[in-house]
Amino acid sequence: MNFIFLMDPLESVMMEHDTSFIFMLESHRRGYKVFFLPEGGITLLNGQPIFLVTEVIPQQVKDKPFLLKGQKRLEEKDVDAIFIRTDPPFDHRYLMQTWLLDRVSPRIPIINRPSGMRTVNEKIWATQFASIVPPTMVSCSRAELLKFIQEHDEIVAKPTDGFGGQSVFRIHRGDLNTNVILESLTHLYTRDIILQKFIPQAEKGDKRILLLNGEPLGAISRVHAPGDHRNNIFAGGKAVATEITSRDREIISILKPKLLEFGLYFVGIDIIGDYLIEVNVTSPTCVQEMNHLYRVQLEKQVINFVEKLIKDSRRI
Ligand SMILES: Nc1ncnc2c1ncn2[C@@H]1O[C@H](COP(=O)(O)OP(=O)(O)O)[C@@H](O)[C@H]1O
Ligand SMILES: [Mg+2]
Repeated sequence: MNFIFLMDPLESVMMEHDTSFIFMLESHRRGYKVFFLPEGGITLLNGQPIFLVTEVIPQQVKDKPFLLKGQKRLEEKDVDAIFIRTDPPFDHRYLMQTWLLDRVSPRIPIINRPSGMRTVNEKIWATQFASIVPPTMVSCSRAELLKFIQEHDEIVAKPTDGFGGQSVFRIHRGDLNTNVILESLTHLYTRDIILQKFIPQAEKGDKRILLLNGEPLGAISRVHAPGDHRNNIFAGGKAVATEITSRDREIISILKPKLLEFGLYFVGIDIIGDYLIEVNVTSPTCVQEMNHLYRVQLEKQVINFVEKLIKDSRRI
């Protein structure tokens, strides 16, 4: 079978941490052909997609995670599954890839379904589930934002499309930097941002739970580096073992039907304390961190699931 991975340039892959890499490796181990699809590699001809890809052999060799086997032009009939693994931001270019991939026959599973990725903004979509999300405002109105800040002792302010903890500010009521932070995050009140009640349990870490077809695949906590409040690995945070609590299961059960409806098969949710903070649908990570902590190979379950999707889609 032929598996396509739409992702950022191969040079950016960190072999020991990258979730896409471990999926590619497992696909290769099973005898499937693995193709790297760069941004810009999809052509639509009369509504039919053509993929300009590079065949690769993933290998656990330091500084050389891929052997390149040359470029190929694949038609839809040559493709068995597509993984969308491009990192955020979910910008216009990202959106364009999802529009082009909408044209792929439903016979071919796409992990995750492009229309679902458009529906679920990683931070805004979750706000509909008010019982499991902290008090949150999305706005670019100065008056509304200041009102929200007045109502809470401590909040975080963050962009709607950030990642890796970039531009996440923690603000106490009365902080003299409040106006400056709002002006710069909103680009002078022209872009929506997120204000959210600060959840004190964040001191102990964020929990990342990976969901496969709406069911928990694994979980870890990420704990901030000394001198930082953000728990992102990108911001120096450390991965530690954790458990899935009954509250986590409650959150998952609320999300599951929607995730299945939208074809969001592989998703990472972030939980702080009792609250859902983010639903990551673009390129969830942490599989390798979970593998190391728990001595498992979660990629096997993911590829098993993709094989099942392929089988089911052919039966239709
Ligand atoms: N409501 C909140 N309460 C406490 N800490 C938060 C809150 N929201 C975000 N943070 C902190 O900021 C970090 C990054 O925020 P997050 O919303 O996950 O954005 P990103 O997409 O950049 O990861 C989190 O890991 C957490 O440490
Ligand atoms: Mg996060």
